[in-house]
Amino acid sequence: MADVFKIGLGNDYPEIRENSVSDFISFWEEQAKKLSWFSPWNKTLEWSPPFARWFEGGLINASYNALDVHQNNKAEKPAIIWEGESGESKILTYKDLWVEVQKFANVLKSLGIKKGDRVTIYLPMVPELPISMLACSRIGVTHTVVFSGFSSASLRGRIEDSKSKIVITSDGGYRRGKIVKLKEVVDEAIQNLEFIEHVIVLERTKEPIELSSKDLIWSDLMKDSSETCEPEKLESTHPLYILYTSGTTGKPKGVLHGTGGYLTHLNSTFGWAFDIKDSDVFFCTADIGWVTGHSYVVYGPLLHGATEIMYEGAPDYPDPSRMWSIIQKYKATIFYTTPTALRMFMKFGDDIPNSFDLSTIRLLGTVGEPINPEVWKWYFRTIGKEKCPIIDTWWQTETGGMLISALPGIETIPLKPGSGTRPIPGVTISVVDENGDEVSPNTKGYLIIKKPWPGMLLTLWGDDEKYKNAYWSKFQNSYYSGDYAKIDEDGYFWLLGRADDVLKVAGHRIGTAELESCIVSHDDVAEAAVCGIPDEVKGEVIIAFAVLVEDVEKNSSLLEKEIFEKIRNDIGAIATPKQIYFVSKLPKTRSGKIMRRLLKTIANNETIGDVSTLDDGTAVTEIQSMFQELQKSIKGKNN
Ligand code: WTA
Repeated sequence: MADVFKIGLGNDYPEIRENSVSDFISFWEEQAKKLSWFSPWNKTLEWSPPFARWFEGGLINASYNALDVHQNNKAEKPAIIWEGESGESKILTYKDLWVEVQKFANVLKSLGIKKGDRVTIYLPMVPELPISMLACSRIGVTHTVVFSGFSSASLRGRIEDSKSKIVITSDGGYRRGKIVKLKEVVDEAIQNLEFIEHVIVLERTKEPIELSSKDLIWSDLMKDSSETCEPEKLESTHPLYILYTSGTTGKPKGVLHGTGGYLTHLNSTFGWAFDIKDSDVFFCTADIGWVTGHSYVVYGPLLHGATEIMYEGAPDYPDPSRMWSIIQKYKATIFYTTPTALRMFMKFGDDIPNSFDLSTIRLLGTVGEPINPEVWKWYFRTIGKEKCPIIDTWWQTETGGMLISALPGIETIPLKPGSGTRPIPGVTISVVDENGDEVSPNTKGYLIIKKPWPGMLLTLWGDDEKYKNAYWSKFQNSYYSGDYAKIDEDGYFWLLGRADDVLKVAGHRIGTAELESCIVSHDDVAEAAVCGIPDEVKGEVIIAFAVLVEDVEKNSSLLEKEIFEKIRNDIGAIATPKQIYFVSKLPKTRSGKIMRRLLKTIANNETIGDVSTLDDGTAVTEIQSMFQELQKSIKGKNN
C-alpha cells in the first residue's frame, strides 16, 4: 500500500524551496510581488521581536486583489457557487461579487463607517458574509466575524472588546432544517451598548422579527446604493481583521491580522497546496466564522480567481450523503475538510460515497486536528479512489495560513498517512524540549517557529503584553505554537495535539480556563476543572469535574442540566461537556495546579497505572490517595 501514497501532481520546482532557505526575506519579497500593490514597500520586513511588520510602506487593498484584478479576464467566471441547506443554489460571478461588494461598501460609508473602524459580522454561511468582509476590507474597516453558533454572551464580549460600531446579522439562519434566530441573539448581546450605532439585518429566512430604532434592513440599504466604490489604498500593516480564538486564559484572544503579509501568505500557500488551476472547482467545508473559512474560503480562493463552492448548512443534513451529492452536483475537483467530518462519514460506511460520482475530485485536504492514519487511508481509498493526494495542512488562527503541508502545486513528495510532511518554504520550524534544544528524531517535543512569516498575527487586539506572554515567553525569540510534534528520520513532521490547556473538540478550539470560569460562575459550584478525553468521531470530547459549595441540595442531574444551560448561554453549544462529575475535591499539585492527566485517567475509566509519568512533583502516594478519593466521590455523588 505504501507505494500508492507516492503521489504528487507531477510538478517539481525544487528551486522554490532552495531559495526560501537561503534568504527567507527575499523569498517572501518575491512572493509578495505576485499581488497587486498600489505602491511598493520600502522595507520587506521590519522585525522588532516579537512584532513583525511585513512590506512596510507598501500600499495594498485586499478586496481589490480578490475582485478588481479579475475583472478583465474572469468577470463572468463563477466566484462562489452557493448551495443553501434546503438545496437552492445561487452563482455569483466575479463581476457579481465585485458589484455587490462595492454597493455594500458604499452602504457602510453612508452610515459614517470609515477606515480604522471595526464592524462585527454575525451571519450564517450565506454569500452576504464574504460580501460584508470584502466590503469592510475595501474601505479599510477591520472586520470581526463571530461564528454564528456562539451565544449572545460570547458575541457581546467580542463586540465590546472590538468596540464595533455596526453589527451585521440576519433574521435567522438554517441549521438542520430549523431556523436559528440570530437577530434575537444580537438583540440580547447589544443591550445597553451605547457605542453600537446600527444593526444591519439581512432577510434570510423572512420570519417576522422585532425591529428597533438602530436596525436597518440589508435590502433597503442596497437598493439605491452606488455600484462603484474605489478601494482605499491601505498600508500593508493595516489591520484586516480580528478573529477571536480560545487560549489558555479565561477570555478569548483577539488575533489581529494585517493585510499585505497575510495576503502574500495566503496567495502562496493556496497555490502551492491546492495546485490551483483555472478549471478547478474548490470546495472547503469550513464555516467562515473560523480561520479556515477566512483564509481558504474567502481570501485564498478569491485572490486566485478560483471557483468555489460555499455550503450553508450541516454536513450531514438531510442525510450523510450531502457532501458527496454536492461534489457530484457541482463537479468539485478539490475537497478540503476536517478529520472530525471524515470520521463521521467513515462511520456511515462506503456505500454512501460509492453511490455518487466523485470522479472529478483530484486533490483532497484536511485541517484542524491530527488525522488518524486509518481515517487518512479511508479518505484516500473511498473518496480519492487511490488517485488523489491528501494534503494534511497544519496551521493556526494566529499563523494566518498553512505552515506545514505537502504542496502538490510545487513538488512531488511521498505522503505518509497522518503526517503533514514538511514545513512550507520560507519558514523555519523546529521541535524542541523544555529548554528550547532540538529533540532527536522521533522524539516528542514542542513545535516552535523560529523566524517571522508573512501570515503571522500583528498582535492581540489591544494587548501587546498578552501577545508577548502567550506566544513569545516560553522560548527565546521563537513563537510557541502550543502544540506537541515530532520529526521522523525522513524529516517528516507529525502533529501530536495540544501541549497547553486548549482543547480541540470536533476541530473547534475551546479554552479550558474559559469553560471552567463559566462553570464556576454557577452559584452552586465552588471549583471546576475540565479536560478532554479521546472520542471516536470528534477527536476529543470535554469532561468536567465540579466541586459544589456546601449544602447544595439539588440532585446532580438537575445541576448538570443547569450547568449545561449556562455553558450554552455563556459560550455556545460547542463547549458543552459530555459529562460532569461532581466531586468533593480536585486533585492538585502542591503548587496548586490541577492535575488534568489524573482527571483524564479517571474520566477514561482507566486504572492509575504508572504514576511516575504524572510529572507534577507530587508524591506517588498522594496521587494514589487523591485518585481513590476522587473515584469514591464520583460513585457517591453521581448515583
Ligand atoms: C490543531 C485551525 C494536527 C493544532 C486551522 C493547532 C492540527 C490548532 C492541524 C489550531 C493538523 C490544526 N494536524 N493538528 N493538520 N491543523 N491543528 O486556531 O492543535 O482553530 O494548534 O486553526 O489546531 O486551531 P485553529
